[in-house]
Amino acid sequence: MRWLISGCAGFIGTNAARYFLKGGDTVIGIDDFSSPMSRWRSDHALTQPGIQLWVDDLLTAPKYPFDSNFNGGDSPDAILHLAAQTAVTKSVEDPFNDADRNIKATIRLLEWNKEWKVPFIYASTNKVYGNGLPDKDLCKTTLRVPESLGRTARWWPSSPVWAIDSPTKRVWHDWDVDPRTPYGVSKYAGELYVHDYAETYDFPYTIFRQSCIYGPGQFGTEDQGWVAWLLWQAIKGAPVTIYGDGCQVRDLLYVEDLCQMYSVAARSNCREIVGVGGGVQNTASVREVYGYLVNQLGGTPQCSNAAWRPNDQKFYCTADSWYMNMVHTSVKDGLDKMIMWARGTGVQEPV
Ligand SMILES: NC(=O)c1ccc[n+]([C@@H]2O[C@H](COP(=O)([O-])OP(=O)(O)OC[C@H]3O[C@@H](n4cnc5c(N)ncnc54)[C@H](O)[C@@H]3O)[C@@H](O)[C@H]2O)c1
Repeated sequence: MRWLISGCAGFIGTNAARYFLKGGDTVIGIDDFSSPMSRWRSDHALTQPGIQLWVDDLLTAPKYPFDSNFNGGDSPDAILHLAAQTAVTKSVEDPFNDADRNIKATIRLLEWNKEWKVPFIYASTNKVYGNGLPDKDLCKTTLRVPESLGRTARWWPSSPVWAIDSPTKRVWHDWDVDPRTPYGVSKYAGELYVHDYAETYDFPYTIFRQSCIYGPGQFGTEDQGWVAWLLWQAIKGAPVTIYGDGCQVRDLLYVEDLCQMYSVAARSNCREIVGVGGGVQNTASVREVYGYLVNQLGGTPQCSNAAWRPNDQKFYCTADSWYMNMVHTSVKDGLDKMIMWARGTGVQEPV
């Protein structure tokens, strides 16, 4: 299969390109290196034959001339659209740039696909659900029963976390969308364009509403990619600020498991919107992840607290779906792999 991946030098993009290549596919990527560390990732992770990177801004790039000498066809077989402005805080500071990168760039790729009509995979976000459940539907607990934490319950330090007061509220992708923040709105607008073009021009699509994705290749900033941010700060022995009480919970999905989901979606000819995350057995709070990382690295926690950030969900866990059968990596294993990768990079100070 020939893939066109936008945002190919990003965290998920580099992992996807390598995953597809391992499975015998070829990849054409496009990236403008606008995200921190994308150039570094490109130099370190996109050098194998079978991956071609085209350095250009999707907003202005000409339609890619597919070259039959390279990949044997004059169009891709599937598109994975990852290119985006990904930080909520930056979307508030500069909503115009956010809208350009998340809406207009999506339209551009969809315009190209009017002719190709190949499966279109769109990486959306759980931020389309806005602030999440109201406080009245949440409770704080220290009880991590095996049904709700599975394997992780054996090793997480005992710490209070936010939880839902009723299991029926876990049906997350049936939940009403209520996008907040320019980032949530622009990613949701992208979803609507994908849906409209796919129905009008008749091509398959899958919209993945992704929860927190983590893994090798991720550097993270305080604004985006919190697991990686905590890891790199812990490696440097630098302090972190925990916004809110640190008990906010996400279901963490290891990036390689997500790549398998993309691969299956591109081959399934579906037209659907699906929530994907690590599921209930891979839920963890900010404090738990930080505690685990510091412990594994043999350091001491250095954190201060600050006020909640606007629109921070206290609890998010993806509902089960058949895609969730592809979650193979526990949070503990995923974090251990990430630590090993980060230590092996030789990077001292990610920018
Ligand atoms: N990482 C997560 O936890 C997460 C969660 C939910 C959704 N997502 C979505 O997944 C996608 C990938 O996320 P990521 O974590 O890999 O982000 P990332 O910032 O690492 O990667 C995005 C890449 O897109 C490139 N890019 C941005 N605008 C571009 C443009 N106009 N033209 C060409 N390249 C451009 C950047 O240079 C970068 O390499 C994004 O669409 C994001 O919204 C990510």
